[in-house]
Amino acid sequence: MATVTIPEENRTLENPEEISEFLSQFGIWYRRFEGSDDLSDEATNEEILEAYSEPINKLKAEGGYVTADVINIMPTTPNLDMMLAKFDKEHWHDEDEVRFIVKGSGLFHIHPDKGPVFRIEVVKGDMINVPRGTHHWFHLCTERTIRAIRLFQDMSGWTPHYTESGTDQSFQPLCFGPNYIP
Ligand code: LAC
Ligand code: NI
Repeated sequence: MATVTIPEENRTLENPEEISEFLSQFGIWYRRFEGSDDLSDEATNEEILEAYSEPINKLKAEGGYVTADVINIMPTTPNLDMMLAKFDKEHWHDEDEVRFIVKGSGLFHIHPDKGPVFRIEVVKGDMINVPRGTHHWFHLCTERTIRAIRLFQDMSGWTPHYTESGTDQSFQPLCFGPNYIP
């Protein structure tokens, strides 16, 4: 299950319904996939897309997403730090950021127009849509592993636009679950 933290308000949300409700005020939707899969760690991206074809097709139909791919990040991924450096600065996209996590975890920070910055830690089974234009940044958790299905309306929109918000993003990301850093 995801965890939402609003540091400025000393609030943490762990209940999926509460999380969905909280996020909906920012246009973000959050949903759980409770089905299981028999995938091994060696599963190919094609096997992942096949195993999750039902929820993927549902999401595509609902949101007008035309393509799906799989992003597979692990500590040994070449140029990992360079890749992460693109996303750990506040940015937005011209297209929705739809992610369906099938392994590992990650941490989004969301900087809404109104209201304090909050964090969403996503783990296996979490589906999230950060709508186009939403200011956000992203870190991996300490295990530096995430495998996620990504859905796109049009891949050309997938360029980060950086903000000059000056938001402090330098602190060590907190992740809960097995990766909690006190
Ligand atoms: C992205 C996320 C990680 O832009 O923010 O793909
Ligand atoms: Ni992004």
